[in-house]
Amino acid sequence: METPVISLPTLQWAYQTFQKAFFLLDPEFAHKVAMESLEKLKPLLSVPVFPKETQVHVFDHRLAHPIGLAAGFDKEGNHAHLMSKLGFSYIEAGTFTPKKQVGNPKPRLFREVRQKSLRNKMGFNNPGISLGIDNLNQEANKIDKEKLPTKIAISIGKQKETKEEDAIRDYINCIQTIQEKANQNLKERILYIAINVSSPNTKGLRNLQEDKTLTELIQTLKSISTFPLVVKLAPDFPSDADFQNTVKTCKNADGIIVTNTTTQYQSKFGEGGVSGELLKDLAEKRLKQAKEVLPENFPIIASGGIMTPEDIDTRLQEGAILVQVFTGWIYSGPALILNWIKNYSQP
Ligand SMILES: Cc1cc2nc3c(=O)[nH]c(=O)nc-3n(C[C@H](O)[C@H](O)[C@H](O)COP(=O)(O)O)c2cc1C
Repeated sequence: METPVISLPTLQWAYQTFQKAFFLLDPEFAHKVAMESLEKLKPLLSVPVFPKETQVHVFDHRLAHPIGLAAGFDKEGNHAHLMSKLGFSYIEAGTFTPKKQVGNPKPRLFREVRQKSLRNKMGFNNPGISLGIDNLNQEANKIDKEKLPTKIAISIGKQKETKEEDAIRDYINCIQTIQEKANQNLKERILYIAINVSSPNTKGLRNLQEDKTLTELIQTLKSISTFPLVVKLAPDFPSDADFQNTVKTCKNADGIIVTNTTTQYQSKFGEGGVSGELLKDLAEKRLKQAKEVLPENFPIIASGGIMTPEDIDTRLQEGAILVQVFTGWIYSGPALILNWIKNYSQP
């Protein structure tokens, strides 16, 4: 008997039908339930096929299209296969720290539904880089078996207890673990390692964006990494000139991600970083400012408030080579990528 196949439009219909019910649940619990349900449905999902016109070449890899999953969605590194069947061309797993971390006390993820936004103060809950790579090895094997073109990026950060002045050791530890433990299938799919110096929920992390510290961090990590290194920046800086100075410091890395969540709304909503619609204008402004001070072909990955196919086009036109989504996918559902691809597959 033939296995039934669930198409993405059917899944989108189901998603929209159940979204209201999911939005009644605690957001972190809803995420867990949704991922477990989708993992169960995974064998029924067809392998996505993309038109040639959307392909992108970057970091010596050919991607099916420019849309990836942003860090923090797959914190344990065990949904890369599922998310690639849902159409993402690359998945940024993590952020991983050297050792397992439980993160901040719950509740730590909140919806601002009217503004199509999220606020989180997760604090890098993750299984630690070693277990993370074990998980990603298994995911890479599954992706390989189905001959999917998906790439994997790995986000790394510092342990909560690590002092700022010792942070560099945590990043070195993570890179060494990736290089020692990744199996062949994973190694062949690693697109980049993201140096996360911009999550607002680990005390002192954003201070690593300071010019001298960041220069040393990039230089040291470049000397040991066999994979491209991409620095993920915050959108919140005292001035535009400060942001552009930090961007210039990243020229010695292989790329940048602009941006992480914003702390701009803390007085209105409370602690944590805001993502989604409320971040859109600021993240877009930072992308344009980064483009102004970087060499023409320097890879910029856009993140922050990408909610619609039009937003994807805008960021690409503004100079991003890749985009990545998190909150937009939660509010729009699995059809976001398909709806963007459609523009390229019309006869
Ligand atoms: C619940 C949650 C957890 C996140 N965790 C991480 C993380 O571990 N590392 C990281 O670099 N970014 C993390 N982010 C930030 C996202 O990767 C992304 O940069 C940000 O949400 C902006 O994109 P968006 O507006 O599409 O959500 C997290 C975001 C959310 C909402």
